[in-house]
Amino acid sequence: MLFVCSIIGYKGKSLAAPVLIDSLKRMEYRGYDSVGIATITDGKILVRKGVGKVAEVNKSLELVRMPGLVGIGHTRWATHGGVTGNNAHPHSACTKDIAVVHNGIIENYDALKEELILLGHRFKSQTDSEVIAHLLEAHYSRERNIKQAMIETCNRLKGTYAFVAVFEEGAISGARFDEPLIIGIMDNGYFISSDILGFLKYTDKAIFLDNKDIAIINAGKLELFDFEGLSVKRPTTQVAWELGAAEKGAYAHHTLKEIHEQVRTVIEGISSDNKEKIGTFCNFLTNAKSIYITGSGTSYHSALILKHIFGKFAKIRSETIMSSEFQYIALDSIDETSVLIAISQSGETADVLQSVKAAKQKGAKILSVVNVPTSSLARISDSFLNVNCGPEIGVAATKSFTGQLSVLYNLTDRLCNGCVGIAANKNELMTALNLILAAENNIANMVDIMDDIKDIYILGRSLHYPIALEGALKIKELAYIHAEGIAAGELKHGPLALIDKNTMVVVINPLDATFNDTISSAHEIKARGAIVIGISDKENDLYDHFIKLPKIKETLFPLIEVIPLQTVAYYLALKKNADPDYPRNLAKSVTVK
Ligand code: G6P
Repeated sequence: MLFVCSIIGYKGKSLAAPVLIDSLKRMEYRGYDSVGIATITDGKILVRKGVGKVAEVNKSLELVRMPGLVGIGHTRWATHGGVTGNNAHPHSACTKDIAVVHNGIIENYDALKEELILLGHRFKSQTDSEVIAHLLEAHYSRERNIKQAMIETCNRLKGTYAFVAVFEEGAISGARFDEPLIIGIMDNGYFISSDILGFLKYTDKAIFLDNKDIAIINAGKLELFDFEGLSVKRPTTQVAWELGAAEKGAYAHHTLKEIHEQVRTVIEGISSDNKEKIGTFCNFLTNAKSIYITGSGTSYHSALILKHIFGKFAKIRSETIMSSEFQYIALDSIDETSVLIAISQSGETADVLQSVKAAKQKGAKILSVVNVPTSSLARISDSFLNVNCGPEIGVAATKSFTGQLSVLYNLTDRLCNGCVGIAANKNELMTALNLILAAENNIANMVDIMDDIKDIYILGRSLHYPIALEGALKIKELAYIHAEGIAAGELKHGPLALIDKNTMVVVINPLDATFNDTISSAHEIKARGAIVIGISDKENDLYDHFIKLPKIKETLFPLIEVIPLQTVAYYLALKKNADPDYPRNLAKSVTVK
């Protein structure tokens, strides 16, 4: 199930509604089928919510005009209950003195709902989230004690959640269990949000709540305690990112901007401040008896490349297992002599976190590669490397993929005393990245003249195979076209049966040890009438279309050759009138299983 909602709470000196809307827009990439806001004015909670994007709902319901200095907001990505106004958050309780926004899944909501209905509560939505509002109300109505009501409510909920509630008296309270929740501290107020992008424009001071933490913001004070009611202290962190990096600038879409940023982010991945931590990684890895690598989606493709370069260059044997399969395959053989490398852009993907927690319980050391150094994954790891490519807003990963590769190549380079050559070829790499990005117009023109395509196959051998998988994933995600990455040598073992004049085949074929074998595969395809697109530094008459790769040390080709595939996917999306930044049915971080 794919699902990520955004939650935000604000209590400060400004009108809450405009601030909440601004924050929700910045987090819209996480989930976006409906939107709602609750504010408090004259001791009453006012709720407005509807279906659509933030800007649309704001226009029709004039959310921005809602009065009050305290409020909560939410963008919903439907799981329990359809996409309707009633199912949108915030959900209020019967007496309307509490409203709640929630991210996650309440697994025991059916049983709780039945119990609450027997007590006389009336439900207005089909969501699991509404039970939180009624449970809070049931406990709060007894003594009007927010702390007690929050503790009792949290202790009844099963599942994963972060929720924020406003209380008529003007307080905001939030709790988390396996979903992120972060407090933003201003000079004259507080935010509470599922994502630092929700408040980074206003403050860079943040407190990352731990699991089973509850926060109450009331009368200008922040109180933190756990599910037992015991007071807890959490450090205040200075968050480093510039919010400007999350703006689209002159680009039509975040995705296109992020594709172009790769010139900088790949190079920064090599030069970033990971130096000391790479030393720690090397120590853990050289002392490990077994090494596992895991990740989901695009990050899994990075994991496949890491296994390959570890084996080929650093002579380190490792096993890559996708996170959703990890528990079934790896857990029986993992122990305290194992190291698990987890790769994740967000550091919040539920499948990845579950694998890591299970491996940790068996005593394994956890090393991670993340783009969010304050993420849950970074925080439970023994050490982590920072991809440091800035916020990635496009749902489909682009710059974070090449950023991960850059960091992983650099790590491998250190393990084999520079034999991969990424650090030594930094300038050549930058030139090559610039040249391949300059091919954008040619790629756009090529896509423009393509007939309606139903099936695309992408072929690559060796290190180019994970890139073929990643290219196919981009096309599926952005352009909704069936696309498959195939190890070129496997063509004859099945996929060749699918090739005819209606298929399009992309061959990733730079001039390296795989070149001749891949050309043979291309011949077999051409003979069956398919349209062949070649991505190579050497042209060939076989290709109907040709994307020229710049010359570069051959080990570094994967960092370059994925860029034209991302660009093809982007322009195919535009051709189909799909929004490349927000693909249908997908979410940037999947924080539930
Ligand atoms: C989701 C996104 C993918 C991403 C995957 C892993 O499925 O839609 O684009 O590759 O999660 O995300 P992570 O943040 O763990 O790298």
